[in-house]
Amino acid sequence: AKERTLIAVKPDGVQRRLVGHVVQRFEQKGFKLVGLKMLKAPEELLSQHYHDLKRKPFYPLLLRYMSSGPVVIMVWEGHNVVSTSRKMVGDTNPAEAHPGTIRGDFSIHISRNVVHASDSLEGAQREIQLWFNSNELMDWDSCD
Ligand code: CMP
Repeated sequence: AKERTLIAVKPDGVQRRLVGHVVQRFEQKGFKLVGLKMLKAPEELLSQHYHDLKRKPFYPLLLRYMSSGPVVIMVWEGHNVVSTSRKMVGDTNPAEAHPGTIRGDFSIHISRNVVHASDSLEGAQREIQLWFNSNELMDWDSCD
């Protein structure tokens, strides 16, 4: 199977009308959208998604932020999509994220960093299974 990754526009990104912009960057790059949905993330799902961060001091704040409004969750497919997406999204801390990256261009604070991108192939597989049923992922080809 081709490489896939999970990209989420977090509640601050949705509130700031950045969904279309994020989608456009990934389409423009050449990646293929194979899944997309909007939801208010249930706490159970968020706790599974962020299970590695349970002991961090910012964890309660993170869950509150992620459930402060709807999120837009997407699956993107393509060559090296996991690592390329991380580069397009930029450093977790927007103060360190380079201009030209999504976080570098659109955010100033680590707890409001607009987007999520899976950090590894294994992480991507785990997160895609968590957020999507297999029948919600589209296997389509370009018409030629
Ligand atoms: P992300 O990399 O998508 O997933 C983990 C999230 O935890 C990260 O984005 C930030 O939103 C959040 N995070 C990481 N470090 C901190 C921190 N020091 N303070 C607040 N939030 C953080």
